[in-house]
Order: sequence, then C-alpha cells, then structure tokens
Amino acid sequence: MTDRKERQREGYRAADPAEGPLTTDQGVAVDHTDDSLTVGERGPTLLEDFHFREKLMHFDHERIPERVVHARGAGAYGYFEPYESCAEFTRAAFLQDPSVRTPVFVRFSTVAGPRGSADTVRDVRGFATKFYTSEGNYDLVGNNMPVFFIQDGIKFPDFVHAVKPEPQNEIPTGSSAHDTLWDFVSLQPETLHMMMWLMSDRAIPRSYRMMQGFGVHTFRFVDARGHGTLVKFHWKPKLGVHSLVWDEAQECQGRDPDFNRRDLWQSIEAGEFPEYELGAQLIPEEDEFGFDFDLLDATKIVPEEQVPVRPLGRMVLDRNPDNFFAETEQVAFHTANVVPGIDFTDDPLLQARNFSYLDTQLIRLGGPNFAQLPVNQPVAPVRTNQRDGYHQTAIHTGTSYSPNSLGGGCPAIAGADGYAFSHYPERLDGAKLRKRGESFKDFYSQAAMFWNSMSDWERQHIVDAFRFELGKVGAVQVRERTVEQLTHIDQGLATAVAEGIGVATPAVANTEHKPLASPALSLTNLHGDGS
Ligand code: HEM
Repeated sequence: MTDRKERQREGYRAADPAEGPLTTDQGVAVDHTDDSLTVGERGPTLLEDFHFREKLMHFDHERIPERVVHARGAGAYGYFEPYESCAEFTRAAFLQDPSVRTPVFVRFSTVAGPRGSADTVRDVRGFATKFYTSEGNYDLVGNNMPVFFIQDGIKFPDFVHAVKPEPQNEIPTGSSAHDTLWDFVSLQPETLHMMMWLMSDRAIPRSYRMMQGFGVHTFRFVDARGHGTLVKFHWKPKLGVHSLVWDEAQECQGRDPDFNRRDLWQSIEAGEFPEYELGAQLIPEEDEFGFDFDLLDATKIVPEEQVPVRPLGRMVLDRNPDNFFAETEQVAFHTANVVPGIDFTDDPLLQARNFSYLDTQLIRLGGPNFAQLPVNQPVAPVRTNQRDGYHQTAIHTGTSYSPNSLGGGCPAIAGADGYAFSHYPERLDGAKLRKRGESFKDFYSQAAMFWNSMSDWERQHIVDAFRFELGKVGAVQVRERTVEQLTHIDQGLATAVAEGIGVATPAVANTEHKPLASPALSLTNLHGDGS
C-alpha cells in the first residue's frame, strides 16, 4: 500500500541507472571512467579532466559527522493507527480516527558506540519514531528503558564524556566497562536506578522487534478545550520482550556485529513485520503532586500498579529504507517536534533536549535546511518565511516577512483558532535558581524496587554484569565507592558484587526506602474502573 510519505519519496528517487549511460553531476554522458586523462600513456594527470576531479571531489566529501550519541542505528518505515479516538485527552489529529493510518519512520540505535561498532553491546537502545501526521511531524524520541541516567540536561555533556571512550586511547568503543563511567556513577547517585537497568538483561535485547520503548519524560496531552493531562508513553512489542544472555551477546559481536540490524532488515524483507503497541499512562494534572517522587524527574518510573498503561494504537514497520545514508543517517529527530494536542512539561532533562537536537543537527546535517531532506520532510504542507541557507532546495516565490501588506508570498497567520499549535498556558511563578528541590533527592528507592522485582536468575545476571563491568575498573577507590552506593539499594547485591571484584564487603548503609506510595489519585476519571 502506498501512503502519503511513500508517494512523496517517489519524487526524490535518483534516475534509474538501467535507463541510460553514466553521466557527470551535470548530466553529461561519460565515455570512460577507469583511466584519468593523462599526457600519453604514462604522463601526469591533466587538470582539464573534469570528470576525474568531480568524481574525487565528491568522494572526498562523502562523510558527515556521526551523531554525537546514538551514532549506530537501523531504520524502517511503517504506519501507526489508533485503536479508538483519544479526543478525551488530546486533539492530536493522528490519535483521533482508527481508520486513518499515519506514516512513520523509526530509528533504533545503540548510544555509546561509533557508527561502526557492534550491535550486541551492553547499552541503552534508542527507539525514535517520526509520525508524519496531517498536522506536521511529531517525534517521539525514546529509549528502550523507562528512566534516564541524569535529572538535568546540564549534566549531559559530563555524562556522555564519562560514557564515551577514554580520551587518550579511545578504548573502549562500544561498551560501558571503563573507569570514567563508573567514577561518574559513583559520584552521581541519581544514575543508579538507570544503572540497574543497564546491568540487567534489558541492555542486551535479542532483537529490535523484541524490546519496549519509552518516552521517559512526563509529557502533556491537551484536548480541544485546552485541558491538559500528564502522560508517559510506552511502546510494547507484539513479540514480547526478549534478551540475549551475556555469553550469546559476546559471541554475536564476533560472529555478526550487525546482529540486530540484520534481524530488523531480514524480518521486514520476509514480511514478518515488527509491530508495537503504543500505550500511555495518563495522570490528571490535579494528581501531579500525589506521588512520592517528582513527575519531572526522569530517573523515576510511574509504577504501573499505580497508573496502568492504556493502549492507544499500534505501529507496524513494513518497509526497509532504500538508502541507508539518505534516510537512516540523515533522519533528524527532535523532542520539540510536537503537534497540536501534545506539549511539554518542565522536566529539566526534556527542556535541555528541546535545545540540543536542533542545535546538533544544524552542524551534523550541514546547515538549516535539513527539514527539506526527503526523510525529514512532513507530508503536511510547509509554508514558512525561512529562506536561503546551505542546501536550499525549495524555490520560494514572493516576499518572506510578516506582517506584510504587500502580499505576494507571505502566508496568513492561523492564529489560535484550534488548528494551529498554541503553547499550553501553564501558570508559573518562582525565583531564578540553580537548585533542585527535595522531590528530586531520593536516588535509591526505585533502584531497590527494580532489584526487588527481579527473579533469582535475573539477579544473578545483574550481579555478573556488575562484576564484569566494575571488575575492569582500575581505580580501586571507584570500585569501592560504587559498591558503597550499592549498599543503599541492597546489601546482598553490594556484598555479591564486592566479593566478585576483590574489594572489601561494605557495611550496611542506613537507607530507608520509601514504600510504594498509593496516593488518593483521581484515576477513576481516566480509567473508568480505577484499576
Ligand atoms: C540522539 C542529546 C537525552 C534519546 C541524541 C543526539 C543528541 C542528543 C545531541 C544526536 C541527535 C542527532 O545528531 O540527530 C540529548 C541530550 C539529552 C538526551 C542533551 C539530555 C539532556 C535523551 C533521552 C533519551 C534520548 C532521555 C530517551 C528518552 C535519543 C535517541 C537519539 C538521541 C533515541 C537517536 C535519534 C536517532 O535515531 O537519530 N540525543 N539526549 N536522549 N537521543 Fe538524546
């Protein structure tokens, strides 16, 4: 079936090589491409050889910077369809009508390794979805784990510098086993909940078709009346969640570094289309402060016992890209690509992301016009007053300013008529501070909750992972400090790790974990049965 995005892509396909001879970039047919133009058969190459110079020039510039994180990935096209209208919570057009399919492009990725690293490393996986909706592009830029390492985006450069290879020798390239990461972790206990996920089997998914996705932050739905509902997004794979075990993962790295990419590509080619259910935890705004953690803290989950996940619709990935570079490499996701009916919260990590993606893409994709690239282009009409810049491919006509009494090109302003995006009028009042409140200070309760929810063999895998990763750390004080941090989660975990890596078993930390709160939430408004 061809959807709107597919029809749009048709217009961008390069000329069919079977239909004519090799040409230069200027369309001039080439008589010969194997020998450069020289003086005699052994003479120097002539500057006059425009085909030779153009061919080399283009080759010399084939590379662009890889993504500063999530450099290695695999992508696919598909569609999303809602199960029923979500008008009760959001006016987003793509969540209204079950008979309307919205085209999507998804990119799965590892985070730490470079473009050429192996797939099956212990790492977080990116799960980024671009919905080409009738009201413009909506990007849900998520991961396969529901929490993140840090609470505030100002720490992201520090965190990534600690995660990335050691600066002096660029080792390791694709794993988390080195001193700087663990140094950062042991000094920043807000990382610990995510580190528990990272040491678990969730960090070595069997397949991109078999992993969950999470929006991580609390976002906001806005309905047609302008009423907001807080929302956490979840993707659930139809095939269930499956992981490799560590020995398998390591063997795969050697035998087939493209293990996850190949699996995605081959399953789509075989017609075994990956499918995921989009779900949402919906929280009435009046319940924002009814939890024992802060909903703006991305190191916390909202337990499903407290707020169940409501299924919204399904996504099917049914087409591989035609060109990895043009599509999977040049796709530009951005958390601030939202549509009417979906808005932000003040989560300080999300606020930082809303700056960072556009900023990095400006240089990664060579100037301000990357939204015109086929994979990034909305199917909704684009009418802006933005002009010129590197790689401008649109031929604009008329004027490009507003207000404008002369007409001749400037589009009308939609105004707040219910069709345009209007920012949610959240009421705010406060002093300017570089300070996070007490509601962000419990680093251990949810890490302990994660540990307590594990079966014995899952715990063993976590202990083994800590021993493997932390055991490679040279700095003894970093090993000791990390193990000391683990005592705040569980003494048995800390002792088991300590014994495996040759540090002293630490004394029991005196940490009181908060019990799972069961606040008097008004969830019945949202879920009917209050389940
Ligand atoms: C990619 C920044 C946190 C998910 C990126 C990129 C940057 C970035 C600069 C490269 C984008 C590009 O070159 O196109 C940040 C910052 C963060 C942050 C500053 C925190 C303040 C997160 C979180 C998630 C996430 C919490 C998940 C919820 C992703 C994904 C990609 C990505 C999936 C890859 C997108 C793709 O496939 O092209 N991030 N990130 N990031 N980030 Fe983040």
